[in-house]
This record gives sequence, structure tokens and C-alpha cells, in this order.
Amino acid sequence: MTEIRRKIIRVLDGETLSPPPIWLMRQAGRYLPEYRETRARAGSFLDLCYTPDHAVEVTLQPIRRYGFDAAILFSDILVIPDAMKRNVRFTEGHGPQMDPIDEAGISRIETEHLIDYLMPVLETVRRLRNELPSETALLGFCGAPWTVATYMIAGHGTPDQAPARLFAYRYPKAFERLLLLLADVSADYLVAQIDAGADAVQIFDSWAGVLGEREFEAYAVKPVARMISSIKARRPEARIIAFAKGAGYLLKQYRQKTKADAIGLDWSVPLEFAAELQKDGPVQGNLDPMRVVAGGVALEDGIDDILQQLGNGPLIFNLGHGITPQADPENVRLLVERVRGRGTV
Ligand code: CP3
Repeated sequence: MTEIRRKIIRVLDGETLSPPPIWLMRQAGRYLPEYRETRARAGSFLDLCYTPDHAVEVTLQPIRRYGFDAAILFSDILVIPDAMKRNVRFTEGHGPQMDPIDEAGISRIETEHLIDYLMPVLETVRRLRNELPSETALLGFCGAPWTVATYMIAGHGTPDQAPARLFAYRYPKAFERLLLLLADVSADYLVAQIDAGADAVQIFDSWAGVLGEREFEAYAVKPVARMISSIKARRPEARIIAFAKGAGYLLKQYRQKTKADAIGLDWSVPLEFAAELQKDGPVQGNLDPMRVVAGGVALEDGIDDILQQLGNGPLIFNLGHGITPQADPENVRLLVERVRGRGTV
């Protein structure tokens, strides 16, 4: 049997493809009526994540509609704290919530049977690899230690992660222990996703942008570098995308320091700087999700700028962050068509 080299994998290995492959962060989500329907049938959001029948279905929905080059496993970064018994819940209109952790709580975290708890997610990965079209790559993912820790410490989302920043200054030892624990279980979890059939994995550091220079090094770079080195020591063929949202100029050395194969870029990264970063390897991004909501020329100009400035190097076309519930599914169709060169450029 000849091995299929899916487009996203070719780009992760350094090839330039024209048109570039495309997928969107949060491509399975509330902007799709079929997602809302399955979501309602599943019960709670975590039930949706832990029921392979439902999780497979919602992962496939955007692939059926748009034929993206990659499917991303439907789950959430907060299944790790959930497996740590932090009483994670997703209540309508409140975002995620869990029991906030303190110094004593950190010293009591149990990680021994954590991967067993996540078996339903790994079952979803296995089923997806069988059900996806052979040309569609399957991406696994997890949250980066810093981003997951911000939710664990505050107990909910916050606009600037002040609780976690403060905790890190006050209790540096406990905080480093938490990051190390998260890095090690998250690396095991990604290895398990790769073994279950994920072609590549993405590490989401959605809150990297609130860190100062020294803290970025200690809390974003170091734990992600530890994860990647642990994964690659065990699975040398693993391909890893690291997305440090809001990191700006600090992205300059991020690939070299973490050894990520590709780096994800949010829409605030100037395309000229993105092109510099692309000289060292593949980049992914970085359309403002609001352009997908706006549609029309805002959408077209955003797409064309990215293709013009990054299209001549290894690029995975994506948004700069997740698609939002108010996006019009028809605009997503126009986006895919334009990137694939069937638009009105
Ligand atoms: O990209 C995909 O399609 C795969 C699924 C996916 C979800 N969450 C599904 C989800 C992925 C990759 C994530 C990652 C995630 N989760 C991140 C990192 C990326 C990012 O967006 O910054 C973070 C920070 C979370 C934590 C989280 N989960 C928040 C803050 C929320 C609430 C905000 C919201 O949009 O409601 C969630 C819930 C969540 N995760 C939803 C989805 C589709 C919406 C829940 C619902 O359907 O009611």
C-alpha cells in the first residue's frame, strides 16, 4: 500500500503548496446549524466531548460541508483538568468553570489514571481516522500548560489572566510544579492521540499574549519545549504545530526554542514579520475571524493579502483564532473557494 501524504503533512515537512491547504480553528462549532442540533441532542458540552458517536459526527460536519484539508478532533483543552477531577462544567452563557486550585491542591493532583479517563476521546480519534476521506488529515490537540493553568487557577475565563499571573509571582514553586505536571500529562495525551491515528497535533497557547518577556520564556516556551522534546523522543515522526496567540515579537525565536514544526499566527502578526518567520519553516494563519463575519471585501482583501505575502512559502491557511458563532456559513464557503483559487481574485 502506498502511503498517502496528506497536504497538511507535506507543508509541515516544509513543502510549498499552491493553493495552500486550509482548515479553520473551531471549524466544528455553533456557527453550523448541524452542530447546534447534535449539541442539543448530546446533553452537556462534556457529554458531547466524551461520546464518540457525537464527537465523530460534529468533527465530520465541516468536512462534509467544505472539504477542508484537515479535520480537528472535537474535544476541548479543558478535558485535562476535568480528568484531574477539577469539577469542570460548561454552563450556557458563562463559559467554562471549574474549582479554582491553590498551592495545597497542586501538591495533591493525581495524574496516574488520567489517560484512562480520556479513552473516549482516543476512541473518537480512532473512529475518525477510519471514517475520514483518505486525503483529509486528522489533527489532534491539547492546551499548552500555561493556558490550561490559567483556567485551573482562576476557575473560569478572565480577560487578562491576572489570577494566574499573580499566583505565579506569589507561589513560583507551586506554579512551576503545576506547569511540569501539565506538560508531562499533555505530552502523554498527544502521544496517545498520535498512536490512535492523528496525523499531526496542535498545542494551543491561547493566553501566551498576556505574558511578559521573562514569563513567556518560563511559562510558554519552556513547558512547550519540554512537551515537544518528550513527544519527539518517543515518536520521532510526530508533527507539531504550536500556536502562541498574542505573542507578537516573542515569536521570533519560538520555533527554534520549542522545536515546533510549524507556528500558528494570530491576525495581529504583521504579514511582513510572518514572512520572516516563514523563512525558518511553515506558518499557519492568520485571517481575522471578524473578516469571516463581515464577508464581502473585508473577507476578500484579508484572504488576498495573506496569499500574496505568505503564499510563496510553506503555509497552512487558517484563521488567526477560532471562528465565532456569528459567522455566516456561506462566508466560510466563499473563503474556501477563494483560497483554492475559484474566487474572483
Ligand atoms: O477547533 C475545533 O473545531 C475543535 C474543537 C475545539 C473546541 N475547543 C470546541 C469547543 C478546540 C480545539 C477547542 C480549544 C479550546 N478550548 C481553547 C484553545 C483555543 C481557543 O479558542 O483559544 C480554549 C481556550 C478552550 C476553552 C473553552 N472551551 C472556552 C473558553 C469555551 C467557551 C467559549 C465558547 O466559545 O463558548 C469553550 C467551549 C467550547 N469548546 C465550544 C466549542 C465548540 C462551545 C461550547 C458549546 O458548543 O456550547
